[in-house]
Amino acid sequence: MLVGGEMSYASTDQMVGNISHTVPGACGTTHSISRLGIPSTVMADGPAGVRISPFREDDDATYYCTAFPIGTALASTWNTEIVRNVGKAMGVEAREYGLDIILAPALNIQRDPLCGRNFEYYSEDPLLSGKMAAAMVQGIQSQGVGTALKHFAVNNQETKRVANQANLTRRALYEIYLKGFEIAVKEAGPWAVMTSYNYVNGVYASESYDLLETVLRQRWGFDGMVMTDWFGGDDPVRQMIAGNDLLMPGRQIQYDRILQAVMAGELGMEVIDRNVRRILSFVFKTNSFNDYAHSDSPDLSYSADVALEAAKESVILLKNDGLALPLSDGGKRVALFGNTSYDYISGGTGSGDVNEAYTVSLYDGLKNRKFRVFRRLASSYRKYIRTEAAKIVPDYEKNPLYDFLCHPRINEYEVNSRLLKRSARVNDAALVTIGRNSGEHADRVVNEDFNLKDCELKLIRDVCSVFHKAGKPVIVILNVGGVVEMSSWKDMPDAILLAWHGGQEAGDAVAAVLTGETNPSGHLPVTVPASYFQCPTADNFPYDHGADVQEILHNVLDVRGKSNELRNVDFTDYEEDIYVGYRYYDTFDVTPAYPFGHGLSYTDFRYRDLLIERSEDHFVISLYVENIGDVTGKDVVQLYLSRPVADRPEKELIGFKKTPELLPGEATHIAFRIPYEMLAFFDEKSNGMLISPDSHTFHIGKSSADIELSATVEPVICMELLKYPDILSPEKNIHILKP
Ligand code: BGC
Repeated sequence: MLVGGEMSYASTDQMVGNISHTVPGACGTTHSISRLGIPSTVMADGPAGVRISPFREDDDATYYCTAFPIGTALASTWNTEIVRNVGKAMGVEAREYGLDIILAPALNIQRDPLCGRNFEYYSEDPLLSGKMAAAMVQGIQSQGVGTALKHFAVNNQETKRVANQANLTRRALYEIYLKGFEIAVKEAGPWAVMTSYNYVNGVYASESYDLLETVLRQRWGFDGMVMTDWFGGDDPVRQMIAGNDLLMPGRQIQYDRILQAVMAGELGMEVIDRNVRRILSFVFKTNSFNDYAHSDSPDLSYSADVALEAAKESVILLKNDGLALPLSDGGKRVALFGNTSYDYISGGTGSGDVNEAYTVSLYDGLKNRKFRVFRRLASSYRKYIRTEAAKIVPDYEKNPLYDFLCHPRINEYEVNSRLLKRSARVNDAALVTIGRNSGEHADRVVNEDFNLKDCELKLIRDVCSVFHKAGKPVIVILNVGGVVEMSSWKDMPDAILLAWHGGQEAGDAVAAVLTGETNPSGHLPVTVPASYFQCPTADNFPYDHGADVQEILHNVLDVRGKSNELRNVDFTDYEEDIYVGYRYYDTFDVTPAYPFGHGLSYTDFRYRDLLIERSEDHFVISLYVENIGDVTGKDVVQLYLSRPVADRPEKELIGFKKTPELLPGEATHIAFRIPYEMLAFFDEKSNGMLISPDSHTFHIGKSSADIELSATVEPVICMELLKYPDILSPEKNIHILKP
């Protein structure tokens, strides 16, 4: 029972146990014990939708799942209700396909823009990440399907992910990297937590008693099951003792080692009993145990509607000069540039991918909304994409994980100047889509990934020059899983939409924003740095170590053990400490391309009547938000806190609310309840939480860099706050960044 069964990659000799029940394409099971009436339970990824195989042998039916917007896009909505609805729809699909648990949500912090899996994660901020994850868990679990919060914890890079050692201070650990998990555990009660591959301050996460028993269970009250990531960790006995109940996908060698340790008296039966009890408590909750008769036909059209709503709300209007958007009725003749406009990207690769039935491209979305898309240009692009794509022939022998990995994209089509000029003559606007993808096993690189390729820059430059000469606007659409460099080109186009990977309905969502049918209300869940080397993590991230496939295969099963040789590969020092994302930019006065929380609308909002009331143990901070523009829209109200303490971020997000749709002239009342404990911070010296005895300031902002209202409150009476046990300290001195 302690080791699961079935696996998605590599050899089969490792499967243990009796698997009586599987769903093709699902990534794992717990195995059955038929003499006790215990069925196997089935697990599938992942964060943007259920990942199973759409086809089955000897079966004509299809088993597609819905590709929802990626985690970062969902967080860009800042709308927990939307995320809960996505979770519900995912839960229904999982339940109706006979699955018991979805291996999601993923809520690691987007510490550095190059992490290959950032797209699965929500934000650089732990509060936003935790609230999004809690909503996702609530949604999925409301349908009787479990969730596994992952990857616990400090899993922020893909390079050498199975043995990278994260070295960080305890305050960074508690305040930044664990905080989101704490929120999701306490607010939503996930059925499971998945440990991460890496070491945390010298101990594998899956072998850390301090992390799993002391923090997760004793301090936060988690009462579910803990499982490893696939093949994670090294020593199954230490994993058992640490409270990592279930080992996935389960290897004979682990089973043998546990048995041997029990026989030798090295591992007490009480540990095994404790872990088995937790696994069984999970099994008893599942649909498989409760004989749920699944239909194999969830209502995919309902899910598609949910995906579309979420995608619309996730689009961020970064820039809109001269009110280029929305395109007026007369502006419906458009020239569509960029390969990705036609070959649109719905989501990232690896276990965060989904096998959806279709993706609505931007071209399709525009056609669906009766735009007249310039045909000459579209057919040239189509022909080029078809020809170039046919040249890429996967070599499965050399690269058995080919289908699972991120593939290089073909070069941009070079539009000749005659066609470009003609496009500007006969159309009312140009749309240029820039696409990026990434996924498991490799981090992104700076050149030609974070930075745009020369051919992409040339495309933007040429289109802007020709269309602007003709007096016509250019709109750039970013169909990306993570942020890209923008400072060098953002002044050229009139408007920029950050549309992320919006799932299978993305093209319709972007088209709805372009027409104004949807007023954009997405806001950045991450900072867009002005250049990669501006990032506080740039010295401590493997920015030029994109893993190759051999390394990947090697990593999956073999590379284990601590090594201190190669900086940012074997080990990574989190020298930026708590100054992650906007906490860094705002404190160190560094101006990014776009700040955290930024997002424009086709209308404008005014904040007024900020009021702070206090009671014995909490503040209520309230204000009115008024739509002072001409069109209906939603706003995101961001509440930040400045603590009167040296060596702290200038401000930190402490609350947020998405308003309902407000009509022109309409106002709504927004209130935040902030318990005094939320003023506390982790103090390394006293090893516990502290509240400063001085006055604190609350801010209401349109982004972390655009504060509209502020108010300072008198000190609160210092409360008795929890002390932390002396655990999880770094093994070495880290050279910490100080303001
Ligand atoms: C990933 C997990 C995923 C698991 C099962 C691992 O490689 O890190 O996020 O849930 O595979 O597919």
